[in-house]
Amino acid sequence: MTDARRTLSRVSVQAPTQAGAAAAVAADGSGAAIPAGGAHGQDGQDGSGAATRAGGAHGRVGEDGRVGEVLVSADDLQRRVRELGEQISRDYAGRPLLLVGVLKGAVFFLSDLMRYIEIPVEVDFMAVASYGSATDSSGVVRILKDLDAAIEDRDVLIVEDIVDSGLTLQYLLRNLGSRNPRTLEVCALLTKPERRKVQLQARYVGFEIADRFVVGYGLDYAERHRNLPFVAVLER
Ligand code: IMP
Ligand code: MG
Repeated sequence: MTDARRTLSRVSVQAPTQAGAAAAVAADGSGAAIPAGGAHGQDGQDGSGAATRAGGAHGRVGEDGRVGEVLVSADDLQRRVRELGEQISRDYAGRPLLLVGVLKGAVFFLSDLMRYIEIPVEVDFMAVASYGSATDSSGVVRILKDLDAAIEDRDVLIVEDIVDSGLTLQYLLRNLGSRNPRTLEVCALLTKPERRKVQLQARYVGFEIADRFVVGYGLDYAERHRNLPFVAVLER
């Protein structure tokens, strides 16, 4: 077991048998995202086109903010999402899985992730609104769209874009947990451990990032920038 793997604890109602993916902490303090396993490039300024787009059409300063440093390139996203899909396929082999995507930010991650999952999988969505400012959630969560179907006795994996304070996820885990799923786990593309206000961690994590506000690959600021193919810091 790696050090990183030890840092992750379960948030499950009933955990699948194998240990999940783990996240490592950036050792150099650069703010670069570190994947939960395997090699990765330092950033997206690598000729992938990411840096060009970051400074191009999306690069102006205005009410949308300015897209700055690329923390996770498009290539690194795809590599890591594939690893997560393969891991999930192994962990849930023989157990039909229900992915619950949290709208809207997780849609992009979830649609890629699903393509790398090789076992029978279904998808449903929830939309929640967290009261608070544009960049801080309060923990008071309202359901805007509930699941279409019951999850009793199902193996359920919540797919989230990012775990920040953890308050939204804490609410979702309690709410969905009360519906008696067989198992309930979390797969988050990103996590900002420094921002955590409640003690919980996702079983599957794509990348740990520093305390920066990021956009792209589904993540927005005031509904903008979701369509960037990489994850970058928003300068304001
Ligand atoms: P939490 O309840 O504080 O963990 O917030 C979770 C939600 O806040 C995520 O699902 C995102 O929608 C949003 N969020 C948190 N950090 C960021 C960020 O850096 N960029 C964009 N959205 C974020
Ligand atoms: Mg969100």
